[in-house]
Amino acid sequence: MLGSVRGRLTLLTIALVLTAALAATLLIVDAYRSHRASTERQISETAGAMSLAIDGKAREVTGVLQVLALSPHLKAGDLAAFESQARRAVPHDDKWVVVADLDGQQLVNTLAKPGEPLPRMRLPADIDLRERETYVSDLLQGMVEKGRVIAFATLAEGPGGRPYILAIAMRPSAPNAVIAEQRLPPGWYGTLVDRKGVVIARNVEAERFEGVSASPDILERIRKSPEGVGDSVSLDGRETLVAHRRSPVTGWTFLVGVPRAEVSGSLSRSLIMTFVLCLALLALGALLTVWFARGVTRAVESLEGAAEAMGRGGAAPRLATGLRETDAVAEALHGASLKLKAREAELRQLNDTLEARVVERSRELEETTERLVQARKVEALGRLTGGVAHDFNNLLTAVIGNLDLLGKRIKDEALEKYVANARQAAQRGAKLTAQLLAFARRQRLEPEPLDVNAVIEGLRVLFDSALGGATRVRAELSPDPLWAMADRTQLELVVLNLAINARDAMPEGGEVLIETARERVSGPDPRLEAPAPGDYVRITVADTGSGMTPEVLARIWEPFFTTKPVGAGSGLGLPQVLGVVKQLGGGIRVDTAPGCGARFHVYLPVAAPAEKAHPEPVEAAPVDFAGLKVLLVDDDRDVRSATADLLRDLGSEPEEAVDAADALARLDAGAEPRLVIMDHAMPGLTGAEAAQRIRVSHPALPVLLISGYMDAEAVARTWAGPVLAKPFDKQQLAARIAAALQAAQTGGD
Ligand SMILES: Nc1ncnc2c1ncn2[C@@H]1O[C@H](COP(=O)(O)OP(=O)(O)OP(=O)(O)O)[C@@H](O)[C@H]1O
Ligand SMILES: [Mg+2]
Repeated sequence: MLGSVRGRLTLLTIALVLTAALAATLLIVDAYRSHRASTERQISETAGAMSLAIDGKAREVTGVLQVLALSPHLKAGDLAAFESQARRAVPHDDKWVVVADLDGQQLVNTLAKPGEPLPRMRLPADIDLRERETYVSDLLQGMVEKGRVIAFATLAEGPGGRPYILAIAMRPSAPNAVIAEQRLPPGWYGTLVDRKGVVIARNVEAERFEGVSASPDILERIRKSPEGVGDSVSLDGRETLVAHRRSPVTGWTFLVGVPRAEVSGSLSRSLIMTFVLCLALLALGALLTVWFARGVTRAVESLEGAAEAMGRGGAAPRLATGLRETDAVAEALHGASLKLKAREAELRQLNDTLEARVVERSRELEETTERLVQARKVEALGRLTGGVAHDFNNLLTAVIGNLDLLGKRIKDEALEKYVANARQAAQRGAKLTAQLLAFARRQRLEPEPLDVNAVIEGLRVLFDSALGGATRVRAELSPDPLWAMADRTQLELVVLNLAINARDAMPEGGEVLIETARERVSGPDPRLEAPAPGDYVRITVADTGSGMTPEVLARIWEPFFTTKPVGAGSGLGLPQVLGVVKQLGGGIRVDTAPGCGARFHVYLPVAAPAEKAHPEPVEAAPVDFAGLKVLLVDDDRDVRSATADLLRDLGSEPEEAVDAADALARLDAGAEPRLVIMDHAMPGLTGAEAAQRIRVSHPALPVLLISGYMDAEAVARTWAGPVLAKPFDKQQLAARIAAALQAAQTGGD
């Protein structure tokens, strides 16, 4: 029950109504208390006032009594004269004057008819008479008057000092008249009782209750205290609130009573009204509760419906239930359901495209892996090729050196031919190693800003002789010079290689188009040979020949891959081209399809224009080698001795050192060569490092560094001085020595 909206509302209503009822009851009880207190005060005051009024009348009577007591007629014993005086003084017929002797024998009674014999009075037991003092009686049985009477009495002096009892008697109607004068509010009781508590006078039903004794609780209260208020029962048997006041003058007590119903009536009426009102409120509350609860329940049920709709995957509707809170919740549900639906749709779409995306990613991954494997392969191949070529080069250096020496000594013509053949073969081997090292990107390059257009123009004569009659070369060069960073000799080789491939692709002859332009490459290209994003000078070599299948295209960069007949192609052309271009910081793109020709685009990094044309290499002045002291440093014994023999053959005097440390030690020990010739690749200190030290310790001593293809790059990075590339023959050695000595003399490198 308490779990429902109706239950809680009912509880709330009951709690509110009960609280209100409690508050009303407390207020009513408080009002009753103050009402009763004020009634008590009122009746007490009224009792006091009544008592005072009775006292006033008593004093009047006492005054008259005292005056009559002093009457000379009485003293003289002239009772007749006294009687007429008394009749004048007390004219009222409900009051009369009595004179009696101390035995009670009446002598004068103004109530009796003249001459009527007067009875003897029975004196009350408590009578206490004194001269000049008034005794007030309780209610007495009259003697002459047959009804009840009250009397005021005193002692008076008769003839010869004889004491008489002088009294004024009266019927209870006298005090009744006094009470009536006071006009008590209707319903109130006013009762005068004597010292014994017997009723003397009463404002209502005086005759009925005259002589009746007041209730014992009232008597008890009167006895205890001269005044007070309390509950009692009236003589006619009604519940009453009674106040009493005893008069010190007469000893009588005046009682004022109010029916209790009059005091508490308002209380019970208010309580009943409150009760009825509470019942009515409860009923109204119950009705309102049912009504409100039904409204709330309906709103909540609509919410439930909305939530269920949402649960089924639909949109929760907007609601107007009349309750702000539920409408807000419905709005939130509506928003949430729309979002949910959108999210679901997204998810579904994502799910649908998932497969396609997985396939796409897998393909990308495969391609990347393929490319990576390819790159590793090329790299490994490069390392292998480079290593073999390096050692091969050392051998060739020794072979060529020795053939040179042999050639000089032989005078036999037939033998000279053998030597010439051997030297030619060795030179071919050197060319092959050069190609291999180019592919391995280990070759020594001398990049400089070159106008690519000028380089191609310079190749024209060579094209004509190299390509043969059926193939024409057409150049479409950009009108402005195009400056690129490149090595002149190697660039010429690249263009020539591509042109020869183009010729080979057109056996029937045709046109080779060479085009140059500036081009910006944007966006990354994952292909190994492609250029990185940036600004380039592009050289395109295009033919209209056989073109390539994708399978061929995929392998053209592999060394020794060729489709040409044995002996016609080595398969090293394109690998060398790519090696050079990549080493220069560029890249290559190829457009081709079978039967549609091929276009090779070579990209070279853009360079700032050279400030002046490259100075023509100055012919080195002839050097006198005779007696030239040279310190020759090489860890390879064969190469060292071959080089030493060449030097000796030139006429110089070589001193051999086995490594860099040996060379430095010899210099320190006081050796004074004109020149140091030092191999670069040596265990311990490299040639370049040793050369740097020599430059510091012997600044005037020139050093010529011999570099194999393998270390061309490392040498270029660490050594700016003269270099002799392996393999070399006697002429090349002589030329480099001359250049190194001249540079040292002119102060440059
Ligand atoms: N312009 C082209 N048109 C069609 N196929 C080409 C073209 N250029 C190269 N190829 C293909 O690429 C292969 C490899 O070329 P690459 O230059 O490396 O070696 P080669 O020309 O066969 O021999 P080499 O250049 O060493 O004499 C060629 O055998 C040929 O199949
Ligand atoms: Mg080729």
